[in-house]
Amino acid sequence: MIICRAKDYDELSRRAANIIGAQIIMKPDCVLGLATGGSPVGTYKELIKRYEMGDLDFSQVSTVNLDEYRGLSPENDQSYRYFMNTNLFNHVNIDKACTHVPNGLEPDADKACADYDAIIDEMGGIDLQLLGLGHNGHIGFNEPADTFTLGTNCVDLQASTIEANTRFFASADEVPRQAYTMGIGSIMQAKKIVVVVSGKDKAKILREVVAGPITPRVPASALQLHPDVTIVADEAALSLLDAE
Ligand code: F6R
Repeated sequence: MIICRAKDYDELSRRAANIIGAQIIMKPDCVLGLATGGSPVGTYKELIKRYEMGDLDFSQVSTVNLDEYRGLSPENDQSYRYFMNTNLFNHVNIDKACTHVPNGLEPDADKACADYDAIIDEMGGIDLQLLGLGHNGHIGFNEPADTFTLGTNCVDLQASTIEANTRFFASADEVPRQAYTMGIGSIMQAKKIVVVVSGKDKAKILREVVAGPITPRVPASALQLHPDVTIVADEAALSLLDAE
């Protein structure tokens, strides 16, 4: 595991965008696994800047997102499809037909998950997977559990996740209770993984992920077993690791 240290969120975002940008330059037709939430917003802004400067070309890039709320349509401004369109895809020359998010409107969970696994397979796997880190150690929406998940699955969101995501909705009641998420197995098959972690509130879980036992109770701890993980974190998020 490489820990890439940044002074603050802005520097973290530039560093993460540099890594993703290098991936696109080295392999213009790469498959990127993408995340939503607050952590990668700055990274996407930096990627857009590099595109506008003429340094990046997304025309051959394909993407698969980690997750989508079950029951939300792509037009819903809280859906992850909407998030990706507004935070990245609308601003670069990517072919939206080559961008994938689980189908939140598919009521048959088994079908939604199998369809998404088939898409990931058809794309030939993920070259670089970008991740954020939940306060409870989740990646994608793979919540703490007794076993690690393999493929795409339908999850009941934990109370702490609903609380953390309430900031994006009018009230906690509006946060969907379920989501479709790529499994830990699929994430672990990505060739390269980049995790963006910012803020003091993530320091405790980041220490557990990096230096604690590997356990499905802390889903991101599985990353310790991956051969190519870069954690791009700011000083606040690294503060408890530094203290050791
Ligand atoms: C989002 C996702 C989640 C978030 C995590 C951290 O697609 O998969 O795992 O990365 O909840 O969220 P933020 O970045 O908002 O703290």
